[in-house]
Amino acid sequence: MTRIAVLVSGGGTNLQALIDAQARGELTGGTLAAVISSRADAYALERARQAGIPGYVIARKEYDSNRSMTAALVDKLKELEIGLVVLAGFMHILTEEMVRAYPNAILNVHPALIPSFCGAGYYGLHVHEKALAYGVKVTGATVHFVNEEPDGGPIILQKAVDIFPGDTPELLQRRVMEQAEWQILPQAVSLFCQGRLSVEGRIVTIKGEI
Ligand code: GAR
Repeated sequence: MTRIAVLVSGGGTNLQALIDAQARGELTGGTLAAVISSRADAYALERARQAGIPGYVIARKEYDSNRSMTAALVDKLKELEIGLVVLAGFMHILTEEMVRAYPNAILNVHPALIPSFCGAGYYGLHVHEKALAYGVKVTGATVHFVNEEPDGGPIILQKAVDIFPGDTPELLQRRVMEQAEWQILPQAVSLFCQGRLSVEGRIVTIKGEI
């Protein structure tokens, strides 16, 4: 069983999608072992509590740099014997020590079709504001491995979502979550935990049917 830690900063709807998938028996080979939040008041911690998953807080403001926050996170993950780290609405850029501690074992969900609308400054609602301002007709979500480059790691799964006239960032965010993120994140986590993902350079190969 791969022990999974989910890192969160806010509402935690993607965490909820993982909790629901586990309850349906769909996280084959994995178990949700910890939720670590960068904010003590994140609703995601309440979702963890209700699901009986241990919750921890590692708040950025308690550390003097991203590097020392990352070091504290790595220590906690190792102590909990975590095998897969999932960034699910985690709003901090971790330093390379994290990637070194968990090479090709950190997944991130991003609310756009990478390489569009990604990188520094593209997070949460801003991503959808920027997609609408650019006038794209299709957006979506991406689950990828995390490497040293923000939103730059090898892509595991993507799903496209239509944009409609009159969409607001909030409407679009909700549609991208419902039609893409909440489906492909649990799917990618399960594929990882079944050992069905292999990575060569930028290319992720999925073994078997999905
Ligand atoms: C999600 O849309 C997630 O993809 C995004 O923040 C939201 C968190 O929602 N993440 C990023 O933008 C990371 N670059 P949630 O807390 O309800 O899962």
